[in-house]
This record gives sequence, C-alpha cells and structure tokens, in this order.
Amino acid sequence: MRRVRIVCLILLISGSFAVTLQASPSKRLDPLTNTCRILNFYTAGWKSPGAKIWKASCKSCHRRGNTVGAPFLHTESKTPKGWTRVFVKRYPKCARTGKWDDLSLEQIVALNDFLYMNAAGTYDPNDAEDCG
Ligand code: HEC
Repeated sequence: MRRVRIVCLILLISGSFAVTLQASPSKRLDPLTNTCRILNFYTAGWKSPGAKIWKASCKSCHRRGNTVGAPFLHTESKTPKGWTRVFVKRYPKCARTGKWDDLSLEQIVALNDFLYMNAAGTYDPNDAEDCG
C-alpha cells in the first residue's frame, strides 16, 4: 500500500512538471495572415529575420536605460499569446503614433514569430528542441 502511495505521489509530481514546463512552440496560427507559421531556430531563433527586426526597430527604444520613456522589454516580457495580441490589436502607444509604420506586414509577422517562440514560459532545457 505504501509503495502505491509513493508511486501515486511521483506521478502527481511529474504530472505537474509536465504542465509548467513546455518546450518552445514549433508552430503558430498567425491571425493577421491566417497562415500556419513554422517556428524553429532558423525561422524564429536568435538569428532569424524577426530577431533582427526586434533589435533594429523595437530595442532601439525598449532597451534598458533609454531616454524616450519606453519600458524595458525583452522576449519574455509577455506570453506567446500576449505578443500576438500586441500585433493584432496594435494597442501600444508607439504603434498608434506611427513608430511601426516603416515595417511591412511580412516584417511584423516575422517579428511576431520570433517573440512568440521565445516568449515567457516557453524555454525548457530538458526538451530536445531547446537544449544545447
Ligand atoms: C521611438 C521609440 C519606440 C519604438 C521604435 C518602439 N516603441 Fe514600443 N513604446 C515606446 C514608448 C515610449 C512606450 C510607452 C508608451 C506609453 O506611455 O504608454 C511604448 C510601449 C510599448 C508597449 C507597451 C508596454 C508594455 O509593457 O506592454 C509595447 C508592447 C511596445 N511598446 C512594443 C513595441 C514593439 C514590438 C516595437 C517594435 C515594432 C516597439 N514597441 C517600438 C517607444 C517605442
């Protein structure tokens, strides 16, 4: 009986880990273009087009200690869904005041891919997608 209880406890604990740890998502449905986007190191990783757009067009203001009043943002500032909301609703003031206007739809979708794949709660060092 005692052994059964221990096994149950182990199952319970490993079950709760499975819920909290999830690997980086490998695809997403983009609501702006209604297409399925495949996410991997090349399409949404640190050297992807989206990462370059993030650095050049967003981090120019959203870096630590900036003087334009922009909050510090990094990929993990929002969940995957939270980032998609940013681009679908375009609710940030900087979007509404035209700071994103030089970005094409293609660039916005690539940026969303990058931020979605690297968002809060997506990294799991014990998963083959994320390790190494
Ligand atoms: C010219 C500077 C500038 C650029 C470029 C810029 N932002 Fe902003 N952004 C701001 C400022 C300033 C605010 C704060 C506005 C306010 O007072 O609410 C802001 C607010 C935001 C917010 C809301 C803050 C939060 O915590 O949710 C998000 C999200 C955001 N920006 C994302 C982006 C993204 C994505 C890009 C690149 C496409 C970008 N910004 C480019 C200046 C900028």
